[in-house]
Amino acid sequence: MTPPLTRADFPANFTFGVATSSFQIEGGAHEDGRGESIWDTFCREPGRISDGTNGDVACDHYHRLESDLDMIQRLGVQAYRFSVAWPRIQPSGTGEPLEAGLAFYERLVDGLTARGIEAHLTLYHWDLPQALQDQGGWTNRQTAHHFAEYARIVATRLGNKVRSIATLNEPWCASILSYQIGEHAPGWHDTAAALSAAHHLLLGHGLALREMRALKLDAELGTVLNLGPTYAATPADEAQARLADGRFNRWFLDPLLKGEYPQDVWADYGVAVPDVQGGDLEIMREKLDFLGVNYYTRQYVTADGSQPEWEVTDMGWEVFPQGLRDLLVRLKNDYDVPPIFITENGAAYPDGPDTQGDIHDPQRIAYLDSHLRAVLEAAQAGVDVRGYFAWSLMDNFEWAYGYSKRFGLVYVDYSTQERTFKDSAKWYQALATS
Ligand code: FCB
Repeated sequence: MTPPLTRADFPANFTFGVATSSFQIEGGAHEDGRGESIWDTFCREPGRISDGTNGDVACDHYHRLESDLDMIQRLGVQAYRFSVAWPRIQPSGTGEPLEAGLAFYERLVDGLTARGIEAHLTLYHWDLPQALQDQGGWTNRQTAHHFAEYARIVATRLGNKVRSIATLNEPWCASILSYQIGEHAPGWHDTAAALSAAHHLLLGHGLALREMRALKLDAELGTVLNLGPTYAATPADEAQARLADGRFNRWFLDPLLKGEYPQDVWADYGVAVPDVQGGDLEIMREKLDFLGVNYYTRQYVTADGSQPEWEVTDMGWEVFPQGLRDLLVRLKNDYDVPPIFITENGAAYPDGPDTQGDIHDPQRIAYLDSHLRAVLEAAQAGVDVRGYFAWSLMDNFEWAYGYSKRFGLVYVDYSTQERTFKDSAKWYQALATS
């Protein structure tokens, strides 16, 4: 039998944490002057969210901050990754910041510090102020400049109180999934717009880094990508797999870490490619103190799009821990990559309490365990990986799926807002405190 994982298996400076994002947990959508975000708008459009829900209440975290912080402390983790809702800071995306918004996140950060927990802040986890979307959202180059200004405001207030600041969460989702595939807000179906959005997201990232660097903060500065290694089913699928890898991974990695777009994908996109102005790529490749990697599954490329019947999670995503190890090793081999944090990894399963009120989620434990072992293997292969954040602290609003998918270590009963540790939370607690 394989012995259970313990802290001692990991490097001494390795951080165990949990992650959330503002729109998915906060609620309090219309309080203290918070502006409308594109997700508020999107949720109101019929058919966008599979269960017809929205983020108005979510986990009511905005009103339960203190008890949620206590819960994180009880979990025994060293770190918490959260995001700031831009519309709480600047309701329309520009102009004077709202004190109530800054004060909320300052209470959050101070509350973590008081409990001995590191704060890892993400500036943009998709809740763009609607007022900026009305001017084209990320397809408007000006949004990148507004983002840098917002970053400066938040970093000025909190940048010496947090361990790290990430500019963006998953620019692939904020561009391709949102402006081309149309599954996320604002729900467009336009490839050129999506590539323009991706370009301005990366530009905004670079501009924000420059603004924050100038403040000489204590925080480590970086960004977060969702990456999925690509595997060809047969040798005949190699070219297609390479292109899929280019679209999903290299389109974001290469500008950030090499200061260039991948030429093969650039050629393949044809007339849809973005308008790159002089100096843009230099701005995008500003030095990163860390790269955040979100990993859920791999991409498996077959000529006809068919997939073998693998073990999948409730999202239909294949469970493939080896992909995480392969991905990390590849980042080390192909790039001059900074230290890495696994900023998200986890699985949805249709959990529910049994007659005793216990929530048994052995599949989630197996998922987390196997992926942590993959991280260890990568570390043993020489990858500098500094920490791991389980997605997610608690069940929450899973975007287009509403509340129908449960990713939490902690179960949320949405009718009472009661939180209950699932078995996976107890398992993670035992690991983090071992
Ligand atoms: C990631 C998102 C996160 C959550 C997980 C399941 O793409 O960053 O908010 O939805 O997927």
